Amino acid sequence: MDLEALKAIAAALMAPGKGILAADESATTIKRRFDLIGVECTAESRRDYREIIFRSPAMADFISGVILYDETIWQEAADGTPLSSILGAAGVIPGIKVDEGTEALPNGNGDVITKGLDHLSRRLPKYHARGARFAKWRAVYEIGAGLPSHNAIHANAHALARYAALCQAHGIVPIVEPEILMDGGHSVEACQEVSAWALDEVFRELYFAGVALEGMILKPNMVVSGRKHGVQAGRAEVAERTLAVLRAHAPAAVAGVAFLSGGQSDEDATAHLDAMARLKTAPWPLTFSYSRALQAAPQRAWAGRPENAAAASAAFAHRARMNSLASLGQWSPELEAG
Ligand code: 13P
Repeated sequence: MDLEALKAIAAALMAPGKGILAADESATTIKRRFDLIGVECTAESRRDYREIIFRSPAMADFISGVILYDETIWQEAADGTPLSSILGAAGVIPGIKVDEGTEALPNGNGDVITKGLDHLSRRLPKYHARGARFAKWRAVYEIGAGLPSHNAIHANAHALARYAALCQAHGIVPIVEPEILMDGGHSVEACQEVSAWALDEVFRELYFAGVALEGMILKPNMVVSGRKHGVQAGRAEVAERTLAVLRAHAPAAVAGVAFLSGGQSDEDATAHLDAMARLKTAPWPLTFSYSRALQAAPQRAWAGRPENAAAASAAFAHRARMNSLASLGQWSPELEAG
């Protein structure tokens, strides 16, 4: 493992004022997003949409890395330029989602396990040759009656650690993403408790697998109330609880923490990051690695029409700038209007 090279990539991803765009929706997930805006989901419409976002001038200003889906990393823009080269030209590091989604965990009563390890050692060199210098693997945990089980916490942590070790062996910085879903009626306390448990197990497995924490990035959920819970924790409470659980369960050696948005409103995702940056109690650089909270607005603005490309690009630039300011603790609600 070339740890110095991994550390340099991780540091570039965590550059002050920049964050990560997760544009790695699977074909199924992006179809759900396109259904909302009435756009037919084809390889061409996915390409056209992503090309607009990747060519946005905001990329060079606010985005350090973009997580791509397998289809996208091999795709070319309308003029024949590989989409990953458009990012490279803007100084943005291409990354790749390498997990293959989830399936039911046997005897899991609703728990899921993330797939994709079997051929990973053969796939990573191909992605590296195409320019990818970081990767993502997402483990998903739902809070419910008896969920998550110990087996789900353990099996997913083990898979994350095997993935992360393989990435580092191939010169790729792993983004390690254990996501506690915010769907459901659980309290903010329950989210905090399960987040602590999942993080603890993940770092134990990372240790056993020999993963260098200095050469990886953690992508956690924030500690929020379940969407259907009667009481919703406020922004200051979310920031405090999230940093409390991370400080207690994620080693300071980790190169950076880049949050997922998880279905929060665009403004909540930004406000929570800003509140955490202002607390100044994190031992790691903090930033965003959002999909929905960066892309819902441009997708609505685009609506599948080429003549809306500039509006979509502007909508993306606005969210990217808001989140860049938030990562520095310099955002305020008034800036949203401008
Ligand atoms: P969201 O920001 O929409 O949660 O997506 C981030 C991500 O990459 C999930 O794996």
